[in-house]
Amino acid sequence: MEKTEDRKTILSGIQPTGGLHLGHLTGALLNWVKFQDEFEAFYTVVDLHAITVRQNPEELRTWTLDLVATLIAVGIDPEKSNIFIQSHIPEHTQLAWILNCFTSMGECSRMTQFKDKSKKYPDNVNVGLFAYPVLMAADILLYQADLVPVGADQKQHIELTRDLAIRFNNIYGETFKVPEPYIPKVGAKIMNLQEPTKKMSKSDQNSLGVLFLADDENLISNKIKRSVTDSGKEIKFSEEKPGISNLMTIYHISTGESIESIENMFAGKGYGEFKQKVADALVEYLKPFKAKYNEIRNNQEFLFEVICKGAQKAKEIAKSTLQNVYSKIGFLLPK
Ligand code: TRP
Repeated sequence: MEKTEDRKTILSGIQPTGGLHLGHLTGALLNWVKFQDEFEAFYTVVDLHAITVRQNPEELRTWTLDLVATLIAVGIDPEKSNIFIQSHIPEHTQLAWILNCFTSMGECSRMTQFKDKSKKYPDNVNVGLFAYPVLMAADILLYQADLVPVGADQKQHIELTRDLAIRFNNIYGETFKVPEPYIPKVGAKIMNLQEPTKKMSKSDQNSLGVLFLADDENLISNKIKRSVTDSGKEIKFSEEKPGISNLMTIYHISTGESIESIENMFAGKGYGEFKQKVADALVEYLKPFKAKYNEIRNNQEFLFEVICKGAQKAKEIAKSTLQNVYSKIGFLLPK
């Protein structure tokens, strides 16, 4: 048997709703890159999830391709990993419907993200938003994933996924693998440059605080230089210095230097000089990503090849899981 058959499966998803920032790269995508050597990896662009809030059609299409190009540019190798678009595999919505019938209203109502988003978009609290975590469970269970890397905010959704898998298995016999979440350590969390006690987030009003991967070199440099720093003048990593600590994290990510050695390197140096060095280091670090992104983003033929190939592999597995589920439920299968 081929070695790959024994490999465990990893699956994760990301929404095509606008540009990614440095926090996505360090908190999620670099882990995805690492995992692809060890696991059979499925990385899906979740456009079905994206429409739980209103999207502009042209923008959604553009962002979907932007995201595919970004995934490849950061190092996800389409020869190793399966990159696919969620809506290309109808089995996701088909399984989601079935799982809906095994999920209680109470379970969905308790989801923190649902409560937050209902507050944020009070005019559009739609059924899709309510059932969002059930669709996510379908994404995961279709592929019999062992491991699901997500941010801490998604942990509750993985718990629901596990509950649904166990519930279904108890009624119908072993059908779904019960997945484990993988939640990265908080160590390298990137904070907003303007409000360094807040996590960097793409929905932040003030884009000066967010380092988008698509920002050009000047903009990146300017955002770093205009970042909020703390009182005092020492380059020291501490809770009292969230601004400087955040810049140190960025320098650490860009150069690989340890926090301790950064403190030593910049002992006695001022904030201005430090910011310049951080800006230069980050620009340098992102160069290969940008070069690769620019090379492939306009090569639509290549991007479509990647997602077609990803969808083919995904389809095979999704189809077989769904057939099994249909037959267990008691659906009459067509001849
Ligand atoms: N809900 C996830 C998020 O917003 C994205 C997502 C959708 C996902 N389906 C998934 C993540 C399946 C992991 C596995 O971050």
